[in-house]
Amino acid sequence: MDGMVELDRLTRDFGPIRAVDGISFTVHRGEVVGFLGPNGAGKTTTMRMITGYLLPTAGTARVMGHDVVEEPIAVKRRLGYLPEGAPLYGDMTVEALLRFVAAVRGFAGAEKRRRVGAAVERAQLAEVLHQPVDTLSKGYKRRVGLAQAILHDPPVLILDEPTDGLDPNQKHEVRRLVREMAADKAIIVSTHILEEVDAVCTRAIVIARGRIVADAHPDELRARSPRHMALRVRLRGAPDGLADELRTLAVVREVETVASRDGTAELLVLPANGRDVAADVLGWLRARGVEVTEAFVERGRLDEVFRMLTQQETGHAAA
Ligand SMILES: Nc1ncnc2c1ncn2[C@@H]1O[C@H](COP(=O)(O)OP(=O)(O)O)[C@@H](O)[C@H]1O
Ligand SMILES: [Mg+2]
Repeated sequence: MDGMVELDRLTRDFGPIRAVDGISFTVHRGEVVGFLGPNGAGKTTTMRMITGYLLPTAGTARVMGHDVVEEPIAVKRRLGYLPEGAPLYGDMTVEALLRFVAAVRGFAGAEKRRRVGAAVERAQLAEVLHQPVDTLSKGYKRRVGLAQAILHDPPVLILDEPTDGLDPNQKHEVRRLVREMAADKAIIVSTHILEEVDAVCTRAIVIARGRIVADAHPDELRARSPRHMALRVRLRGAPDGLADELRTLAVVREVETVASRDGTAELLVLPANGRDVAADVLGWLRARGVEVTEAFVERGRLDEVFRMLTQQETGHAAA
């Protein structure tokens, strides 16, 4: 089998709106894909098609080789899905809900108890086991959703904004859990939180207006930032016109004056070729007799790249 999840030109219209517009990608074992995009980009619609809850208008999706339209039951057996929002059956207690899900998944007796126990432990739900789901905080509801998604230990996990509404500690726990489960699964996690991508994802797929605008390793995306490898220096007693002199160096693309105070000036030196120019520039400054009081190299920022990628697309549509 090629990939564990395979999308081929997957498309979905809602009346005149094309919510998902020809998305293709393949996810392999061990990958954690961050599925990113602004609100309304089509993340949830894509996930609902992969999980068989919504029919595609065109194109195909396969899970472990099974077509989501032709073999929906085979697909549902092989995946765990944390939908957007709150779990169903809010009047059930957490324990009753998980036992119900386990039964639907075909477990009984000791195996059912073991599965529910393991999911409760992984999602840290012991404290609220006997509380109706409706009475839980948003964070606990997300974790109940996660527990039901992982109960049958599926090879494919589709998680729609799993950390939405969680506090920072709970976010950290969910990310740890996703990382732990990653080795032998294929996991797709939608999010609009960019730090999540760094924390858990081996790959980032960015969509805007229903189309893929980037598919790369998070580091590779970050490297597209104009600030990637930019050298930030604080200088004392820099002569007038130093920025202009620096601009003439072959390794330098641009120099921005960031701030100037108490006799020091802060400059941002953008490299011409995306490579580290710290040694060259610091050597040049030393030879020029300029005192450098601070220096560091920026890695670039994901949020900047995300904005560039997703706004470009919006711009086209508006034009
Ligand atoms: N059931 C629906 N009926 C009509 N339009 C919908 C429906 N679900 C989603 N949409 C529209 O499809 C687009 C993509 O939505 P969605 O997949 O929820 O985006 P995301 O999850 O990235 O925020 C939006 O324009 C949204 O309004
Ligand atoms: Mg959504």
